[in-house]
Amino acid sequence: MKIAPSILASDFARLADEIRAVESAGADWIHLDVMDGHFVPNITIGPPVVRAVRACTELPLDVHLMIEHPDRYLEAFADAGANGLTVHQEACVHLHRTLQRIRELGVKAGVALNPATPLATVEEVLPMVDLLLVMSVNPGFGGQSYIDATTDRLRRARVLLDEMAPQAELEVDGGVEASNAPLIVSAGASVLVAGSSVFRHPGGPAAGVRALRSAC
Ligand code: DX5
Ligand code: ZN
Repeated sequence: MKIAPSILASDFARLADEIRAVESAGADWIHLDVMDGHFVPNITIGPPVVRAVRACTELPLDVHLMIEHPDRYLEAFADAGANGLTVHQEACVHLHRTLQRIRELGVKAGVALNPATPLATVEEVLPMVDLLLVMSVNPGFGGQSYIDATTDRLRRARVLLDEMAPQAELEVDGGVEASNAPLIVSAGASVLVAGSSVFRHPGGPAAGVRALRSAC
């Protein structure tokens, strides 16, 4: 089980320190939430921040593109140092071509589904993805509560992946914390994205990572 702290909830004024703290506590990936104010109501970061994070950690950068027209930006994020690029099924008219392009760039390809989007919409492309991200909140903001129906979706997603893409990671993002992590992992998730429960942990980010790890 991998832990991917989402910097969305971090103190951006001390980003390098925050990343060092979660890295020292054993985080596996760094999750970067990119938002454009169109696909989701919030605006966050772009390639310049990915580049800055790249310079301060060796951990894989798991970039979550909550943006419209992601095709326009794939090269820029790959060039900035992304190790994985996850696009939303809902934002890609030509999803197969977009995933192909990500792989051509030598970057791991991920596809994300919002809570209302059926798993069946990505069935045809599962064999070509390295990661399936099942959103457990409606994207746009950190600090929301885990949508309980996600657990069953994770179980069904795991069955699909075992059949069509056994090598792919099953990632969950939104409202993940120590109290629900065991249930989420037992449902089949292999990567936990956690923002608030890590960076807003009372004991600090390192304690947040450790609490999540020991819960699982
Ligand atoms: C979509 C974002 C958030 C974030 C996790 O809104 O992807 O889900 O990563 O935020 P927390 O862990 O605070 O819910
Ligand atoms: Zn995310």
